[in-house]
Amino acid sequence: MKIIKTIAELEPIAGSGRKKAFVPTMGNLHAGHLKLIEVAKRRVSSQNGLTVASIFVNRLQFAPHEDFDQYPRTLDQDCELLEAHGCDVVFAPDESVLYPSPQTVRVIPPTELADLWEGHFRPGFFTAVCTVVAKFFSMIRPDVAVFGQKDYQQLKVIELMVRQLNMPIQIIGVPTQRNESGLALSSRNNYLSQAQILKALELQAQLQKVAHDVHHTTLDFASITSKASQDLTQKGWQVDYVSLVKQSDLTLAHRGQDKQLVCLAAAKLGNTRLIDNLEITLTTEVPST
Ligand code: PAF
Repeated sequence: MKIIKTIAELEPIAGSGRKKAFVPTMGNLHAGHLKLIEVAKRRVSSQNGLTVASIFVNRLQFAPHEDFDQYPRTLDQDCELLEAHGCDVVFAPDESVLYPSPQTVRVIPPTELADLWEGHFRPGFFTAVCTVVAKFFSMIRPDVAVFGQKDYQQLKVIELMVRQLNMPIQIIGVPTQRNESGLALSSRNNYLSQAQILKALELQAQLQKVAHDVHHTTLDFASITSKASQDLTQKGWQVDYVSLVKQSDLTLAHRGQDKQLVCLAAAKLGNTRLIDNLEITLTTEVPST
């Protein structure tokens, strides 16, 4: 496996003419990332293609009060894991390589999508993500890029960027990987104490409860999600949002109109902000118990 730090070293790989499947990460890899690598590999291995991962903690996508400094950096361990999982190339640039001068050209996704949910609580987040991902895309020139569905809105925003900017890249979303208890894997789980790791399961449990209420009651969606939000608050979470939205555009969904739903949630446990989601498909409007 090649570990590359500069754009000059990357160029022969980008221009090699071989198919490339790309997995962008911020490092501190866990089984969720390794699943993305596995999916990427499967996409190109039969065609003698290359699996390329990036490791870069993108300062632009952290607000000043967020955890940029604290974000775990474990490059050696990450490279060992990537190598063991058959990754061919790791691009791990320093900030001075990616941002040799202030990044004044940015990719700004539309407010209708990017100012909702995560974008509302993390202003500028999706502009920063699109900007860095677009830079990686033009440096690596992948045929396929793989993203986790845990960051549901991020995946939607990237799909839109690629479509509207006519980037010839196939975007693949991979279902969220969970631990044996159902907790969505995340590098931010490292911030949690043992007790908080158990408590963190309450977030997914609330999403399951929302799905149950969607399927088995006639309650309107806003009542279902506000109850979920209240329950989490009562249990000691600081809730940013629990929302039932349309999978297509992430705007609020309504009972009787929408069937392809996703419940998106973000909440803080102590100082750690966690996100999770659950897709829900309504096939019938008749409640059953
Ligand atoms: O999902 C992430 O880890 C990041 O947002 C990404 C896509 C690597 C961009 O920095």
